[in-house]
Amino acid sequence: MSLLLILILLAVAAFLIWWLIFETEGVYLGRRAVIALYDLYAHRYDRIKQFDETADLTLIAEPILERIAPQTDPLILDLATGTARLPLIMARHARFEGHVIGVDASRRMLDKAREKICSARFESFITLLQQDASELPFGDGCSDVVTCIEALEFMPCPKRALAEMIRVLRPGGLLLATIRIDTRWMPDRTWSEERMRLELEALGMRDIDVMIWQEDYSQVWAWKAGDSPVVGPAQLEVILQSARQVPITYVV
Ligand SMILES: C[S@@+](CC[C@H](N)C(=O)[O-])C[C@H]1O[C@@H](n2cnc3c(N)ncnc32)[C@H](O)[C@@H]1O
Repeated sequence: MSLLLILILLAVAAFLIWWLIFETEGVYLGRRAVIALYDLYAHRYDRIKQFDETADLTLIAEPILERIAPQTDPLILDLATGTARLPLIMARHARFEGHVIGVDASRRMLDKAREKICSARFESFITLLQQDASELPFGDGCSDVVTCIEALEFMPCPKRALAEMIRVLRPGGLLLATIRIDTRWMPDRTWSEERMRLELEALGMRDIDVMIWQEDYSQVWAWKAGDSPVVGPAQLEVILQSARQVPITYVV
C-alpha cells in the first residue's frame, strides 16, 4: 500500500515538473524562471523551432508591408524578439527600408540574435535591446508597427504587456500579436479569440482580424484608432535616447 502511495506521489511530482518546466516554460514560476529557461535553451532554440524562412516571409513580412503600404520604411518594435526571427525576415524583404528594434529580456537569446544579424550583415536594419517587454522605456506612440510573435503568454502579465504594446504604437499604427490556439494548458495566460478581441477593443484598437496561422498559433492583426504622421527610421536615435534613461545592456 505504501509503495503504491509512493508511486502515485512520484507520478504527480513528475507531471508537475513536466508541466511547470516543459509544457508552460516556467510561466507559473515567475519572470526570472522564464528568462532563465530561455537563456539555457538559447543555443538550441533555432534547431528546435526549425523556422521556415520562406513561409515567414510570405506570412509575416509580406502581410506587414502590404498592410502599411505605401510606407516601406516603418519603425517596428518587435517585443520578445528571441533570436531575431522577425527582424531578420523584415531585413531580408526586398521592399523593406525601415528599422526594427528587437526587445527581449534574455541575454543569451539576444547574443544568438546578434550573431545572426552580424553574419547576415543586417546591422543597419536592426537594433537589439535587453529589456522587459512589459515595461518599455519608450515614449507613447513612438513606432509605426508593434509585433509580438509567440510570446504574449510568457509575459508576467499579458494584459499589462498588451497595454504597453499599444501605448508605444502611434495612432493609426499596426499591431501584430499571436495567441495560442489550445488554451487548456496555460490557464489565465493564453487567451481565446473572443478574449483577445475584448482586450484589444478595450484598449482602443479597431479592425481586429484573427487568422489561424500555424498549428499552435493564430495571428492577431489590429490598428490603433486615430491617425498620426509616420515615424520611420529617422526617429531611431530619438527613441534610443529615451531608452538610455533606463539601463540598457547593449545596443547592436
Ligand atoms: C517562444 S520565444 C519567441 C521568440 C520570437 N518572437 C520568435 O517568434 O521566435 C519567447 C521569447 O519571449 C522572451 N520573453 C519572455 N518573457 C519576456 C519578457 N517579460 N520581456 C521580454 N522578453 C520576454 C523570451 O526570452 C523568448 O525569447
